Amino acid sequence: MKKIVLFASGNGSNVENIIQFFKNNTTVSIVGIFCNNPHAKVLERAENHKIKTTIFNKNELNGNLVLDKLKQLQPDLIVLAGFLLKFPENIIKEFPKKTINIHPALLPKYGGKGMYGMHVHQAVLDNKEKETGITIHYVNEHYDEGEFIFQKSTNIENCKSPEEIAAKVHELEHQFFPTVIEKLLTNS
Ligand code: GAR
Repeated sequence: MKKIVLFASGNGSNVENIIQFFKNNTTVSIVGIFCNNPHAKVLERAENHKIKTTIFNKNELNGNLVLDKLKQLQPDLIVLAGFLLKFPENIIKEFPKKTINIHPALLPKYGGKGMYGMHVHQAVLDNKEKETGITIHYVNEHYDEGEFIFQKSTNIENCKSPEEIAAKVHELEHQFFPTVIEKLLTNS
């Protein structure tokens, strides 16, 4: 059995989509959802699916609490699916090449500190980009700079608001993220 741990900070539509995708898979199990926001909708989603949640604050993330919990779970893959805090080096070191992130833009454009969620889509709109997309990449110690695994673009010439861009990006995320995860697990 391959084990996945998901990290999320907010709504959790990607988490929901990944849970649904692997629901009837007998070789992959989602063993935990880690969240830094006690009011996040993703916790409700986890509860609905009876998946164990771990809520933590920034200090606990950067200290040993989160690391220790992950060591107990021994995941094959840690998936940042809408996780908005910087991921700590001690976890990356403990699970090398086992942590991946989805970024809602075509990196290396629109990445780095402060570039998350709607901020990304607003910047893309302000710069009158004709296309945007998603990047799935390994996580290293620098924001959004780990090795790319997958990218997909979408045309946004008709989008007039960051919300419209977000909707198009979410569509791509929901379509491609689970299959990329599945492929990585198959090859691990
Ligand atoms: C997603 O679009 C994801 O790419 C982005 O947050 C959104 C979460 O949506 N992640 C980042 O910006 C990370 N830098 P969701 O909560 O509906 O899955």
